[in-house]
Amino acid sequence: MVELAPSILSADFAHLAEQIQAAERGGGTVIHVDVMDGHFVPNITMGPPVVASLRKVTKLPIDCHLMIENPDEFIPALAEAGANWVSVHYEACRHLHRSLELIEQHGMKPAVVINPATRVNLLIDILPMVHHVLVMSVNPGFGGQEFIRFSLEKIRHLCAVRAELGLEYRVEVDGGIAPETIAQVVEAGADLLVAGNAIFGDGHPEENARRLIHMARAAAGECSK
Ligand code: DX5
Ligand code: ZN
Repeated sequence: MVELAPSILSADFAHLAEQIQAAERGGGTVIHVDVMDGHFVPNITMGPPVVASLRKVTKLPIDCHLMIENPDEFIPALAEAGANWVSVHYEACRHLHRSLELIEQHGMKPAVVINPATRVNLLIDILPMVHHVLVMSVNPGFGGQEFIRFSLEKIRHLCAVRAELGLEYRVEVDGGIAPETIAQVVEAGADLLVAGNAIFGDGHPEENARRLIHMARAAAGECSK
């Protein structure tokens, strides 16, 4: 089943609870939280205290996308704050296997993220450990960037490898997901669809989320409410 994961990066931070609840009413089923440290990516956002506040206003899975150096240092605090899924960048982890184990040991679902310039083949050995693989379809750091088209091939590749190896990880895509691109990523095989600007950018998250999930379900051949 395809799911929409509203990314709060483009939400109005002064009204996060209302914004999340509106996106949830529109059909968002995962809350995507972009954690940035100003080192791994050229932007700073939020961390465990914001996750703890979000935990009080939503029951949906909180999907933390860590764009930080030394992600291991923040795993215990994220677990304590109530995060459910944690994804770490292949490019940020010196010991990726250890980081994924650490996430699992803290009772959260581990995931790995690859930047646009990173090949899927590098992940083969750790794929059995992950709940999902996140394919970045923009260079991480900012919302509202243009979708990078060669990400589609990576999504297809990950789905082919999953079938070949008999695994069950999900494929998430993040960056530039909008009415113009959502059908293509679903047709390529992605089933967790992150969208920030397309949901929150114009101040109408409920309507935007409803439209996007409807388009995604149609592209997946699922019936839509
Ligand atoms: C970018 C973040 C994304 C971002 C996507 O580094 O990882 O989650 O919010 O934004 P849009 O959907 O606007 O491209
Ligand atoms: Zn993200």
